[in-house]
Amino acid sequence: MTRLIEPVRTAPAVARPGGIRSRIGWTFVLLTALAIVAYAATPYFTATLTTLAGDGVGLASTYADAAPFVQGAFYAHIVGGAVALALGPLQFWRGLRDRAPRVHRWVGRTYLVGVAVGAVAGLIIAPTSRAGYVAFFGFGALAVLWLVTAWRAYRAIRRHDVPSHQAWMIRNYALTYSAVTLRIWLPLLLLAPLALGQPWEMETAFADAYAAVPFLAWLPNLVVAEWLVRRRGLPSYRLPV
Ligand code: HEM
Repeated sequence: MTRLIEPVRTAPAVARPGGIRSRIGWTFVLLTALAIVAYAATPYFTATLTTLAGDGVGLASTYADAAPFVQGAFYAHIVGGAVALALGPLQFWRGLRDRAPRVHRWVGRTYLVGVAVGAVAGLIIAPTSRAGYVAFFGFGALAVLWLVTAWRAYRAIRRHDVPSHQAWMIRNYALTYSAVTLRIWLPLLLLAPLALGQPWEMETAFADAYAAVPFLAWLPNLVVAEWLVRRRGLPSYRLPV
């Protein structure tokens, strides 16, 4: 049977990208990741969900009255996700990998634990989202792919297959980075009706934005990840023609 998407090795060696563009890109990713940890995650640890709901912080009102198990999953998701988001960029820093491989290994293990905790907890909270089915399927698929890509990256490095490990880690962090891209897409989608000269109402604008964002937050990231994988000559996927 012909597979729809076939893995291809585009180059035998591990590519070593460098240069100013890579450095600017890496610095941008690091700073935006840290900004989202500070802006979106840390506020949840400054007061109770009930207090935060009263102050209109993030999704506190959705989870303030949820069952303790769901609230626990919500906090676990934020901690796991924040750990992964903040640590991920370090793993792509070649200087650290070359000079301190033990640090790379330990940061990598912590990153993977963050992903596992964040993803399993994400699967628990996805059905409780006020955005209904689209959030369930969009965030649910994201959580499953987050786990699968992490597992593939881990398995590859256990086999000492460094190029495959790098390729799966690029895909995995592209999914982690959806925490940033979601928060870029959301205001753009909220303001789009205004830009198009349409009547604007908060509740409708939010519902419309949330109808797209559970998928829009990560599908384009995967395309960019695959482009980066190819550019580095790592094992990539292609559609057979
Ligand atoms: C990549 C896989 C991820 C999945 C599947 C996922 C899933 C979810 C889901 C289902 C919700 C609740 C949405 C709702 O109730 O409408 C949520 C909220 C949240 N997630 Fe994630 N998430 C992911 C990554 C991350 C990462 C990396 C962070 C790190 C900061 C993060 C931080 C948060 C925060 C802070 C909230 C609360 C919402 C807010 O205040 O903006 N998530 N996530």
